[in-house]
Amino acid sequence: MPLRVLVAGKGGVGKTTVSALLSFFLASKGKSVLAIDTDSVPNLAMALGLPPERASSIVPLVRNEKLIEERTGARPGQGWGVFFRLNPRVDDIVDSYGIRVADGISLLVVGSIDSAKQGCLCPSIALGKALLKHVMLEEDTAVVVDAEAGAEVFGRGLAENFDHMLCVTEPTVKSLDISKKLIRMGMELGIRRTSLIVNKFRGGDSLRERILSSFPDLDVHFVPFDESFIEAEIEGRGVQSYSRDSPGVKALVSAFTRIFG
Ligand SMILES: Nc1ncnc2c1ncn2[C@@H]1O[C@H](COP(=O)(O)OP(=O)(O)O)[C@@H](O)[C@H]1O
Ligand SMILES: [Mg+2]
Repeated sequence: MPLRVLVAGKGGVGKTTVSALLSFFLASKGKSVLAIDTDSVPNLAMALGLPPERASSIVPLVRNEKLIEERTGARPGQGWGVFFRLNPRVDDIVDSYGIRVADGISLLVVGSIDSAKQGCLCPSIALGKALLKHVMLEEDTAVVVDAEAGAEVFGRGLAENFDHMLCVTEPTVKSLDISKKLIRMGMELGIRRTSLIVNKFRGGDSLRERILSSFPDLDVHFVPFDESFIEAEIEGRGVQSYSRDSPGVKALVSAFTRIFG
């Protein structure tokens, strides 16, 4: 069964950490995983274990001017009044630009395809969207998309291709409120299943109950605040170096097992 997972949430809540750990989890279950970074500040590469210098030297595909011009017929930033191909050729891109980061895991750094933010439907967004649409059709690949914000940036025609949205949140009023909106948008756009990951949780039972009661019909999982994640981040280490016994990894693996089997 193909699996397309959108990992959404506001900045800093833990999307990249969750995406990277999920990629390793799925790979350990024998899936061939394509991890895709569509954040405007991409850092999935380092989380997946690429050395920091190597990770920071990757040019996101939507910033690759030569590729965009070659495929769409127009340069990035051009859009208004300029003709460009809305359906550029993308079928070879995973092979040529995918980075093998571990056994069973390839990474594609796409960059942000948020047209609202870019202000126009420019050639780079057309390329990014065509590429995502294409990889979603790959039969034997599990796709994990580390996305800035929610499903709305993908729009109709693309968002509904996700089987699952993992909405990552911190247990703060503000983050939970944003999550509620992201979850609603995901559902409106046709994403079939949604789970909420309450990350960096440090509250007690009463906060847990309060959160559960404000998301009554949702599949909710709690992941404790884990000091070792911060240490790894400081040292520029990827998630493959995290101890399987650390409380954060344990909680996430148990959540993934319940969600994805
Ligand atoms: N459960 C957790 N406990 C402690 N720190 C965490 C946890 N999850 C993520 N972090 C840390 O929070 C920061 C932001 O995480 P990141 O995954 O980059 O978020 P995002 O991709 O949503 O911006 C990183 O320093 C990361 O190590
Ligand atoms: Mg991130």
